[in-house]
Amino acid sequence: EKGGYEHFMLKEMYEQPKAVSDTFSPRIKNGEIVIEELNMSEEDIKKIRKITIVACGSAYHTGVTAKYVFEGMARIPVEVDVASEFRYRNPILEEDTLVIVISQSGETADTLAALREAQKRGAKVLGIVNVVGSSIAREADSVMHTWAGPEIAVATTKAYSAQLIALYLLATKFAGVRGQITGDEQKEILDDIQRLPVQIERLLENKKNIQKFANRYLAADQVFFIGRGIDYGISMEGSLKLKEISYIHSEAYAAGELKHGTISLIEEGTLVVSVSTQKDLYKKMISNMEEVRTRGAFVMAVSVEGNLEVEKAADYVLYIPKTNKYLMNSLAIIPLQLFGYYIAVGKGADVDKPRNLAKSVTVE
Ligand code: F6R
Repeated sequence: EKGGYEHFMLKEMYEQPKAVSDTFSPRIKNGEIVIEELNMSEEDIKKIRKITIVACGSAYHTGVTAKYVFEGMARIPVEVDVASEFRYRNPILEEDTLVIVISQSGETADTLAALREAQKRGAKVLGIVNVVGSSIAREADSVMHTWAGPEIAVATTKAYSAQLIALYLLATKFAGVRGQITGDEQKEILDDIQRLPVQIERLLENKKNIQKFANRYLAADQVFFIGRGIDYGISMEGSLKLKEISYIHSEAYAAGELKHGTISLIEEGTLVVSVSTQKDLYKKMISNMEEVRTRGAFVMAVSVEGNLEVEKAADYVLYIPKTNKYLMNSLAIIPLQLFGYYIAVGKGADVDKPRNLAKSVTVE
């Protein structure tokens, strides 16, 4: 059933091009974004004054990226919260706030409770859900399914990638309807979205090199991931992938926060993974890389083809191909998933079923 792959996680990473394409294909018709299940008229979309995104774990991380995409592209203010916090903090939900809950399983107890809490306060809830017929899919006011197919490995990969696509489509749709992007810009974004599956496939082909690199860090006791903007969201997910399956302690930091405490943890040889996919932030990231490197860090950089500057500030560079700046997460996460995976494999960990974790967290 693993189809010749050593682990479900590896199989599911390889299913990402299909999960991504199955999630966008039915929703792009003649160059337009059609999301019938959204049940919102153009008037409704224009009326949204705020979006509140609620989820747990990796699904929360897609929400962090989505904040930058909705705000940057559609100019709608976004608040993102983890479900276990949202449900108990007496959230302020005004009329014209759209609540989006994101969940692979559709059964996560805190996310389901957050959905109910939002509905109780009169908000309409859109669910982005993978499992058809799950509790969240049944109770949300509207549901946009991610079509990733069943996910078995505890560490999510293909559902995460499909969630990003659903969020990009929504943000692009909203941006178009609200006049924040032109028809041509929308067309370019859609072309770029449609190119992602092939680009992801190419990135997966680099697995041998990443495995070789990962094998050098099996004994690491801590790893830091740094990024800014969308790259901060990617860093959070890269860090979770590594720690949950390899048991190496890792943290993600907004790169500008390093100076406020974390940099004191950098020692000779500490691995710092720097994610820099946003051109307008390249320079800032290069100075952060130099900062940790002068303190002895070994810097692995994930950046975009053509950013040669990064080679001066990093010890090891993994490039991703160019795409629209809002879509970079879909590409940059691939080497980070592979990195976490191969560290866990190298350590002989139970990759598909890490200790203490359950695939679907149905208790709070
Ligand atoms: C990490 C992981 C978890 C889930 C989280 C939410 O790899 O899988 O962090 O993302 O438990 O689960 P769902 O999406 O089912 O609500």
